[in-house]
Amino acid sequence: MKTWLTETFNIKYPIIMAPMFLVTNKEMLIEAAKAGIMGCTPALNWRTPEDFEAGMKELKESCPGPFGINLIANKSNIHLKKQLDVCEKYPPAFVITSLGSPEEIIRRLKPHGTKVFCDVVDVAYAKKVEAHGADALIAVNSGAGGHCGPIPASILVPLLKKECNIPVISAGGIGTGAGLLSIMALGCDGVSIGSPFISTKESGVSKEYKEACVNYGAQDIVLSDKISGTPCTVIKTPYVEKIGINQNFLESFLNTNKTVKKYAKMLTYYKGMKLVEKAAFSATYKTVWVAGPSIEFINKIEHVHEVVERLISEYKIAFEDLNKIKISE
Ligand SMILES: Cc1cc2nc3c(=O)[nH]c(=O)nc-3n(C[C@H](O)[C@H](O)[C@H](O)COP(=O)(O)O)c2cc1C
Repeated sequence: MKTWLTETFNIKYPIIMAPMFLVTNKEMLIEAAKAGIMGCTPALNWRTPEDFEAGMKELKESCPGPFGINLIANKSNIHLKKQLDVCEKYPPAFVITSLGSPEEIIRRLKPHGTKVFCDVVDVAYAKKVEAHGADALIAVNSGAGGHCGPIPASILVPLLKKECNIPVISAGGIGTGAGLLSIMALGCDGVSIGSPFISTKESGVSKEYKEACVNYGAQDIVLSDKISGTPCTVIKTPYVEKIGINQNFLESFLNTNKTVKKYAKMLTYYKGMKLVEKAAFSATYKTVWVAGPSIEFINKIEHVHEVVERLISEYKIAFEDLNKIKISE
């Protein structure tokens, strides 16, 4: 499985454990590195820039392989400047940018040897980040957990490969080795996998959230704009069913009204994040759990390395099975 990603970072498998708000942590990054892949975590998972700096120092000293940091590039991230200072002081192997222009992040971090990958969901935006100097594209497809894109992987990866000249890493919907093989066959240089790692032993979220990822499946995932204001995949728990997945008349009026929308959006986002945070760490009846359809293939709470090993052994079997298919001349 040699690709641009494995060669550039000297890792065994072309897999990134995707950044997940509230979920990914230091232990998961260390375990990912030990398992031959690289983990990435949002800088926002540390409460303050000071905590982030201490965490980066610790990771640089203790992580046995490369790891990445996810930076939110738009105005909602009031700590971006300080997070960039920390990344300059303790440069991560790579950064994944999401939301907003990655221009400043690319300009400041590339001179420190950090590779900058950018989340994209379509060709127009991919071309923009390529022009800014991004090192690779994270192609977020319609099967992804969190804020997914509108285009399926089978279309998005070939499209980006045709239109852009930098490596493409596919994000979304991989829960099996056969799925991994099918995505690699599209010609991407790696994959970014999130949801299957939520229920790992190393993840810091509540037992209830982990068990929900084991017990619910693909048909239970819904897109809700009720939580953060932008569509996000959540598990359809009885609580999500009760509050509904679409903003009500008043919410959508306030979020589109010219004079108040800026504040209404900020309030929706703030309230939504508090709700998600509470559900992630404590037993509450307000069960708003973010996850993607690939939790379908999660059958138990495992270690990070067990998830990786399962994917790789299934990949090998799928590869052998594929080679048994004869193509007649
Ligand atoms: C619980 C959860 C939280 C996420 N948080 C973030 C985030 O903070 N920043 C980000 O860029 N992407 C975030 N994502 C998206 C992932 O980085 C990745 O693109 C996605 O998980 C890939 O799809 P998959 O879950 O089907 O593997 C999140 C996804 C999930 C499931």
